[in-house]
Amino acid sequence: MITAGPTREYVDPVRYLSNESSGRMGFEIARAARRRGWRVTLIAGPVRIDTPTGVERVDVESARDMLAATRAAFAGADVLFMAAAVADWRPARRLSGKWRKKDEGGETATLELVKNPDVLATVARRKGARLVVGFALETGDGERRARRKMARKNADLIVLNDDSALNASRSRVTILGADGSREALSERPKSAVAEALVEIVARRVRPVAERERST
Ligand code: CTP
Repeated sequence: MITAGPTREYVDPVRYLSNESSGRMGFEIARAARRRGWRVTLIAGPVRIDTPTGVERVDVESARDMLAATRAAFAGADVLFMAAAVADWRPARRLSGKWRKKDEGGETATLELVKNPDVLATVARRKGARLVVGFALETGDGERRARRKMARKNADLIVLNDDSALNASRSRVTILGADGSREALSERPKSAVAEALVEIVARRVRPVAERERST
């Protein structure tokens, strides 16, 4: 299973907080996994990309929706690729009517935010034998930060992107493993990054059916 794209955190019925994620990386992973014959569930935030053939897609908006959908799909999954750019914060209140300037009465306004759940950390806490792949976009001393993030969120692999990856068709990634492994891929189209990533995961994963036979 794969999560992709941004989340939207509504302020009122017509305004929201979100980010620049295009969802492309996650969709390319879905396509590459499907090409290998895997059964693929793709949980997508609001993106404008066609669903790859043969992929089951679940559309979500907020981080909380994404958590619910991810939890449900994770139960029957062998691998989670957590490629979504989940918003860390959401407005403390979602107004039922439009937020009007006159409601504030001055030249400044304050939006109170509350923390969203961490989807990856929440589901990975009880991952059992499932393989969990996180993503990180870091600036400055990326590898150290990404490794810390991987440990904190209980992921098996983390895909470190540099910030040129955002909304671009190519990217340069380093794939770090909780076992200390490190694989730096040269810059290439996201479709080729996805293929390499699926290949690395395929070498590590044990399908649910096989796990069940051995327990
Ligand atoms: N992630 C998640 N839920 C969140 C935030 C992030 O599941 N609320 C996941 C992302 O999908 C990604 C990984 O965590 O796989 C790393 O995301 P990142 O935004 O870099 O992590 P943060 O915890 O937000 O760290 P920071 O803001 O400190 O960089």
